[in-house]
Amino acid sequence: MERTLLLEFVRVTEAGALAASRLMGRDDGTGADRAAVEAMRRAMDEVHMDGTIVIGEGERDEAPMLYIGEKVGSGRPTDDPSAARAMDTRVIGEVSTSLPPPIAVDIAVDPLEGTNLVASGEAGAISVLAVAERGGLLHAPDIYMEKLCVGPTAAGKVRMDFPIAANLRIIADSLRRRVEDITVVILSRERHQPLIEEVRQAGARIRLIGDGDVLAAISAAISGTGDHCVMGSGGAPEGVLTAAALRCLGGQILGQFVPRNAAERARCKEMGVDPERVYDTDELASGNLLMFCATGVTDGALLKGVRYFGGGARTHSVVMGYQSQTIRFVDTVHVLNRAQVDQLRL
Ligand code: FBP
Repeated sequence: MERTLLLEFVRVTEAGALAASRLMGRDDGTGADRAAVEAMRRAMDEVHMDGTIVIGEGERDEAPMLYIGEKVGSGRPTDDPSAARAMDTRVIGEVSTSLPPPIAVDIAVDPLEGTNLVASGEAGAISVLAVAERGGLLHAPDIYMEKLCVGPTAAGKVRMDFPIAANLRIIADSLRRRVEDITVVILSRERHQPLIEEVRQAGARIRLIGDGDVLAAISAAISGTGDHCVMGSGGAPEGVLTAAALRCLGGQILGQFVPRNAAERARCKEMGVDPERVYDTDELASGNLLMFCATGVTDGALLKGVRYFGGGARTHSVVMGYQSQTIRFVDTVHVLNRAQVDQLRL
């Protein structure tokens, strides 16, 4: 089941990336985000599932599509009996086959992670989603989360309440190297100045990024990327997406919600999350059925951005399945205009 769905879901992030990439460098982050949202929403209804968005573009009254609670997928409940019949069958040529009952899943989606990066044509923007069995993704409010993300060697050894220098020592030891030889990825934000100072004091190297802490955490969990951990606060919804990816990769994210005012504290309460607690990877993304897909929008070290050629485009994605224990890098050629496509190039 997971294996089939994975290949369906990557089409959804590919659709988002293709749409957003058309607006690369146009100084129009909102437009790029909207294009990705619309394309992903359409593509989701091609997937045979009864899906519910649990992390998306906001509340129903804030977002026209991919809002929290929206039902998506060709197998979502419907009041229209003819539509319900169509959902149960698929016609291939002359033959009509019955489909198995649609799987009920929860979905976290960020159609454009790195909106500003696309607006300015910078590296590292992705279209991303995570899918889990019902109840498998923590319903995170859209506030900040303090994050500590590491790869498999340090997973289970670091702690949020350890001093930064102690965590860096643990990470370095787990990789059998000196603290000076590890690189910490941090979002370049004013609020991170004290953290940056502490990391510098401890002797580790730092890579400051403008945006995109999901991709940074994936990079920290893959050997050979040159990144070894992510520290600092970023979006809590992105923390859940990161947890899905890190569970598949054997890494770890520790996350603590950081409400900045009474309204955000009330939002935590309403959504049933505790700002006093540190959430571990499998509390943010749990269960056996767990999938993660990301497609590059702009070029990055891990994923290439969308490239166009006469009559088509090429996308690069990473597709992970927890149950199937597979991590695939998917290189797809999209024929957009058959008449114009000449020869496929390597
Ligand atoms: P979006 O492009 O989806 O808005 O998020 C980009 C991002 O950099 C995330 O990767 C990160 O978690 C968050 O924004 C950080 O928020 P802020 O820009 O407010 O520091």
